[in-house]
Amino acid sequence: MPKGLYPRSLIIIIAPMVLLQCVVTVVFMERHWALVTERLSQGVVQDIAAVVDLIELDRSAGDLDAILDIAQRRLDLNIALLPAGELPPPAPKPFFNILDGILSEELTRQIGRPFWIDTVGNSKIVEIRIRLDEGILRVFAPRNSAYASNTHIFLIWMVGTSLVLLIIAVLFLRNQIRPIQTLAAAAEDFGRGKPMPPEFRPRGASEVRQASVAFIQMRDRIERQIEQRTRMLNGVSHDLRTVLTRFRLQLALLGEGEDQDALNSDIDEMQRMLEGYLAFAKGEAGEDVAEIDLEPLMERYQAEAELKGRKLSFEITGDTRVTVRPDAFTRMISNLVANAIRHGTTVQMTLNHDFRWLSIAIEDDGPGIAAEQREAVFKPFVRLDPARNLDAGGTGLGLAIARDVARAHGGDILLSDSALGGLRALIRIPA
Ligand SMILES: Nc1ncnc2c1ncn2[C@@H]1O[C@H](COP(=O)(O)OP(=O)(O)OP(=O)(O)O)[C@@H](O)[C@H]1O
Ligand SMILES: [Mg+2]
Repeated sequence: MPKGLYPRSLIIIIAPMVLLQCVVTVVFMERHWALVTERLSQGVVQDIAAVVDLIELDRSAGDLDAILDIAQRRLDLNIALLPAGELPPPAPKPFFNILDGILSEELTRQIGRPFWIDTVGNSKIVEIRIRLDEGILRVFAPRNSAYASNTHIFLIWMVGTSLVLLIIAVLFLRNQIRPIQTLAAAAEDFGRGKPMPPEFRPRGASEVRQASVAFIQMRDRIERQIEQRTRMLNGVSHDLRTVLTRFRLQLALLGEGEDQDALNSDIDEMQRMLEGYLAFAKGEAGEDVAEIDLEPLMERYQAEAELKGRKLSFEITGDTRVTVRPDAFTRMISNLVANAIRHGTTVQMTLNHDFRWLSIAIEDDGPGIAAEQREAVFKPFVRLDPARNLDAGGTGLGLAIARDVARAHGGDILLSDSALGGLRALIRIPA
């Protein structure tokens, strides 16, 4: 079965129509056509039989001409009595011709003499030869007096009208399906963070219209919610940062000392966390999509990794240019790369961009994440055993942000084991 709604509905319309026509055609051929031809052939053979009887009844030559003349005038049969001899060899049987069969049957039944027929040769006339004691009787009968010959007109009308109806159905159906397709495309675009085409508006059948209106309302609600969340988190982060800065100033005024150092590093950590919250809040804020090149981006990560004494290698197959929300997209990859660099010493990135998907695998040789924890680490503020991390930094938001971004692009992130021994994070985004 085809997947699309359009081909499916076409099948729903076409299949019964074709089936119905097949049944009608078969029944018609079987019953009506064959029956009418049988009756007609019967009549012709009856006429011939009558002529044969008359000829056998009276053998004088003068009456024979009179009989043949009557046959010509009244029965429309062109009959001649040829001298006795052999019948011609049987003519080749046509591939599909009920006339031949029915006529032969009737001749055997009603006259019961050796005969020869040719229903193919001359298309308007059927030739019949019958061997009598007197000689060979040659009959030319008009084909349409033995055969329901205009049957095909009925079939042509039937197929013709259904073709016309079908074309109308196809055109109307396309117009009915198009609004559903535009709605699906708009929903998909929204899922990937693309702006909705301005010409999108509810149209089509009332159910489709209803779905479109519901979709637009849902989209507005989601956008409102995102905006609200972003604004609130921005406000909180901003206020807290102000307080932190004041804190730091006051500490500086207190002078130097061991207590102050500890307090200072606490403030640093809080600052870092705040930056994380801010990034989280900005994650989905309506950034516009743009085209970026993956290669320079990867080279930047490579340089950063080298600065931290780690080895990062990458491999790109397919188009290096991708259309994404640039800031969110780089933040997502940065978070995953930062995790890999923090936990491992060797990082391997494999990027593949084909017509369907952009997939980016980030693998490291660190301790990895146990299978049962792979869902939990995506939750905001979830960090696995902090002692595992060498540097204290980290708010547990990295993976949550990354997944948010991937999903806003219509994709997702999957965690698995890497061949390098650590974690393998796979980003998949529809291209
Ligand atoms: N490559 C990895 N190898 C092993 N464990 C990892 C890896 N990446 C993440 N984790 C674990 O998953 C937890 C959550 O990661 P996440 O990136 O969300 O937070 P974080 O790195 O601790 O903090 P942040 O990224 O916000 O600075 C981490 O605390 C870490 O224990
Ligand atoms: Mg992280």
